[in-house]
Amino acid sequence: MSHRIFNFSAGPAMLPTEVLEKSAAALLDYQGKGFGIAEVSHRGKEFEAVNDEAIDRCKQLLGIGDSHDVLFLQGGATAFFTLIPLNFLHANADYLVSGEWSKKAAAAAKDLGKVNIVASSEASNFDHSTPAAEWKMSADADYFHVCSNETVHGHRLPTLPKHPNLIVDVSSEFMSRPHPFADCAMLYGGAQKNLGPSGVVLVIVRKDMYPKQKKTASKLWSFKDQAENKSMINTPPTFGVYILLEIFRWLDAQGGLAAMEKKNAAKAALIYDTIDRSNGFYKGTVSVKEQRSHMNLTYRLPSEELTDEFVKSAAKNEMVGLKGYRTVGGIRASIYNAMPVQGCEALAEFMKDFASKKS
Ligand SMILES: Cc1ncc(COP(=O)(O)O)c(C=O)c1O
Repeated sequence: MSHRIFNFSAGPAMLPTEVLEKSAAALLDYQGKGFGIAEVSHRGKEFEAVNDEAIDRCKQLLGIGDSHDVLFLQGGATAFFTLIPLNFLHANADYLVSGEWSKKAAAAAKDLGKVNIVASSEASNFDHSTPAAEWKMSADADYFHVCSNETVHGHRLPTLPKHPNLIVDVSSEFMSRPHPFADCAMLYGGAQKNLGPSGVVLVIVRKDMYPKQKKTASKLWSFKDQAENKSMINTPPTFGVYILLEIFRWLDAQGGLAAMEKKNAAKAALIYDTIDRSNGFYKGTVSVKEQRSHMNLTYRLPSEELTDEFVKSAAKNEMVGLKGYRTVGGIRASIYNAMPVQGCEALAEFMKDFASKKS
């Protein structure tokens, strides 16, 4: 087996070793056929089977039925900030602005129509997400957009809001817990955190949204047309989709999303407990504890110098990718599904040791 260290990068991020091994084998020789899965036509029977199984497994994992379509598209989650309003913003859309990513989504929509910001926590540097009781919802919104896990600021919505047309950016927590997605109008997320390599965006659309679509300049940008063509209007990112399929198989073998939620909560608790018991040496950046993310854990050390030393010393101990996002600073430990519990144990031990030497 190859040498693997603990990679806490926010994305592209660590993938399960087993998935990488299976994908590497399929890249070289798919099912003993003498060619790799990335070397065949997307219209051929090998890739069609991959695509169909990936769609079925995805639906099963998320607990969604015929009411929704599963699409494997391209352009990163950022492309969907624009495609969503391009398709669905008629009169007015509601946006919750809770961090870097939902702010970017709202800004993209503002270029295309009327946007109502139901709440923004920017004044406190997005150290939390405004509670639902304070949201100023509009009566007639075409849809309501939220980001369920703010990757940069390290907090999440503990539960999803109720709205007839809820659209959720789940990029940094897709398939990390069993959300009630069957109620949502749309979910989307770049694969590069929890689901596979960059280059694939997993999009789930409720079919009753199609009649509400505006005409787009290209079929490529229309969710309905993409669904009718099983995401194959043009060449899809075939190898990326293959890796997603291996991830879905792996998730099933782990016991599905309820089991992942438990594992992720236990992993996150190892780090948060270390922060909370450090006598203030480590300070979590999220002000509302119930909103602390189980995927991106953000905290600060007493000084910039100590933060730099922490990052460098962790790297020497085979823990990389810990530097916080440039606008937030401090440390960000991203512990997606593929991060083994041993990685969180190692980080927690390292943090305790570092604090005892430096405080
Ligand atoms: C929550 C969230 N939304 C959107 C994006 C943008 O994704 P992409 O780089 O695939 O456009 C990111 C990237 O980190 C993210 O974390």
